[in-house]
Amino acid sequence: MTVRDILKMGDERLLRTAPPVLEFDTPELHELIDDLLETMAAVNGAGLAAPQIGVNLQVVIFGSGQVNPRYPHEPPIPQTVLLNPIITPIGDEEQEGWEGCLSVPGMRAIVPRWQRIRYSGFDVKGQTIAREADGFHARVVQHECDHLIGKLYPMRVRDFTRFGFTSVLFPGLDDNTDD
Ligand code: NI
Repeated sequence: MTVRDILKMGDERLLRTAPPVLEFDTPELHELIDDLLETMAAVNGAGLAAPQIGVNLQVVIFGSGQVNPRYPHEPPIPQTVLLNPIITPIGDEEQEGWEGCLSVPGMRAIVPRWQRIRYSGFDVKGQTIAREADGFHARVVQHECDHLIGKLYPMRVRDFTRFGFTSVLFPGLDDNTDD
């Protein structure tokens, strides 16, 4: 397992549309997922997508099963490895919430997302995952899956008066993505 470098906004590799995983349970896929998990843990990420480490595949991970220190007021999300995800909104209600991204270090913005979603995909062995989620869990899934279509959260911001540096917006919050 290796902690990999996380690409930062401006890198064109973050703007690609990722193709699906075609073969499950391979050594290469396990190695990729191990690297993603280790990299996300090293920086307390809420989630991480394969394109963020330069691997153009529909692979995202999110959640740790515990409260994330970068989002201390949000509930824990189960640790999940999700391949070839599909998101369907349930209803048309939106939520607004603060978001950051390991590829946009040191910043946060209010981003509109679907309040409630159904999401599905596969685990590393090709077993189906199908869930409903709302609130922060739904937000994180939408954020990570956006990385698979070349979208970073600033592209979703509508109100740029609520976009700024974490150190200014949330003094004292431990956001170690600044380094
Ligand atoms: Ni991100």
